[in-house]
Amino acid sequence: MPVTILAIESSCDETAASVCCDGKILSNIIAGQTVHEKYGGIVPELASRAHIQNIIPVVAESLKIAGQNLKSDPDNYRDLNLKSIDAIAFTQSPGLIGSLLVGSQFAKSLALSLGKPLIAVHHMQAHVLANLISDPKPGFPFLCLTVSGGHTQIVLCESPVKMKVIGETIDDAAGEAFDKSARLLGLPYPGGPLIDKYAKTGNANRFNFPEPQIPGLNFSFSGLKTSILYFLMNAGKSNLFKEEFAATELEKKKFIDENLADICASIQHRIVTILLNKLKKASIETGIKDICIAGGVSANSGLRNAFEAMGKKYNWNTFIPKFEYCTDNAAMIAITGYYKFLAGQFEELSVTAGARAEW
Ligand code: KG4
Ligand code: ZN
Repeated sequence: MPVTILAIESSCDETAASVCCDGKILSNIIAGQTVHEKYGGIVPELASRAHIQNIIPVVAESLKIAGQNLKSDPDNYRDLNLKSIDAIAFTQSPGLIGSLLVGSQFAKSLALSLGKPLIAVHHMQAHVLANLISDPKPGFPFLCLTVSGGHTQIVLCESPVKMKVIGETIDDAAGEAFDKSARLLGLPYPGGPLIDKYAKTGNANRFNFPEPQIPGLNFSFSGLKTSILYFLMNAGKSNLFKEEFAATELEKKKFIDENLADICASIQHRIVTILLNKLKKASIETGIKDICIAGGVSANSGLRNAFEAMGKKYNWNTFIPKFEYCTDNAAMIAITGYYKFLAGQFEELSVTAGARAEW
């Protein structure tokens, strides 16, 4: 019998639902939230309310599209409805607690009313397993650099349900480094995709931002943020704050306007080299050459290109999820739910959402 999973993701500001059958994604529906744009960041209370409004239509749409996809497959004509779902997977942690509560309570209520098993998914593990959605897939064990708005980790994945974090950020996440840098440049939230866009026409070697010296496989991005702050306060004359270089707001704005592409390219280049130098170290230390990237920042074209180039140089087998599986989505929750189903990892209805979670 095929295994069909309905998955729900609501950890941050995207309400998402997906159906997967035997590891094949049949639908992947995402409702974004525009309500936060004018605040320069996500407002948790507004996110929770938007999830409440979105969750029923998003789940209904994901079932509808999945059903249509099944019907259009001549070898697999089957109707799909809530009764044909074998288990309900949901993001249990980590994330914004109000947002997580909407998705988890919805999933629990549905599981209870249908008498179906419940599968709790760790959002960061799901980002890693987004690499198991499409072919070719990495072999086990593999390494995954997981880079999102809240996390930056190197994960050693021994099986779909056995992974451990072998390196992580000691302060800001890579996505935060992008978003905070963008904010300093006066760009709207989330600034990561905008830095990516402007960097495409810029000279990455024009400005030199320092690479932090952090022991082991851990990362740090807070020094970079400070160095960009000082660089802009000095209108590009120094990365350290110097009174004699202090620029007025007008001079600073003019400097940014005239050099935006080069500044973005230089910032992106530094974030990417910080990430990839640690990934290279992890590969050397573990001897693992099947290597993936995942999470929202893996949508960054500079990171994707440099990762592929490093892979060629060191003979890695490199894997990058499709764009739609890099940023937050429910297909990654569905694929994780599928593997947890096969491993018999179910949860009681008493399971609760958690803002923070150990692996
Ligand atoms: O994984 P994700 O969608 O949500 C979290 O779990 O945090 O990651 C969101 C992060 C944001 O910081 C966003 O700026 C960043 O991913 N991001 C990018 C790009 N697309 C999304 N950063 C750099 N370049 C991009 N193209
Ligand atoms: Zn995420």
